[in-house]
Amino acid sequence: MSGAGTAIRCGETRRVQRWTTHRRSVGLARDELRAALAEWGLSAIEEPAVLVLSELVTNAITHAYVRGRDIETSFCRGPEGVRIAVDDADERRHPQMRTPGEAGGRGLVLVEALSDRWGVSARRGVGKSVWAVITVPGGRWR
Ligand SMILES: Nc1ncnc2c1ncn2[C@@H]1O[C@H](COP(=O)(O)OP(=O)(O)OP(=O)(O)O)[C@@H](O)[C@H]1O
Ligand SMILES: [Mg+2]
Repeated sequence: MSGAGTAIRCGETRRVQRWTTHRRSVGLARDELRAALAEWGLSAIEEPAVLVLSELVTNAITHAYVRGRDIETSFCRGPEGVRIAVDDADERRHPQMRTPGEAGGRGLVLVEALSDRWGVSARRGVGKSVWAVITVPGGRWR
């Protein structure tokens, strides 16, 4: 597992939330991300960021379900944009890019296309953290 290149200094601008592994969590998490981006003046990247979050949360619920365990989202504002992480409780199965087809495989292709970088890191406790960084077009603004 690699966390290389993920360092974004968050300071106070970090939002961490827990969600049940129910499908409605996808929409609720999306609303929270929209609110965070608006507060941080990052609504310009709302569309790609919300799409990436949707895919990562859906994947955590679908492919990394562990009975009795929640998932966790964290949104972190950095100098270049936002880092989204979705933590799940399954450390045996990992995201794997597939050829998109009838059986799916579109989610990570979308994440790859819309994010600057993404990956999987160890998390505190049991499980893993799937993260993606989405940056404002045109680069750094401060
Ligand atoms: N959080 C995760 N934990 C474990 N396995 C995962 C996780 N996310 C993705 N995967 C694995 O990676 C594969 C590819 O994910 P991807 O999102 O591209 O496709 P999908 O979820 O199967 O279908 P789609 O997203 O198109 O509905 C999944 O089929 C699954 O095997
Ligand atoms: Mg998927």
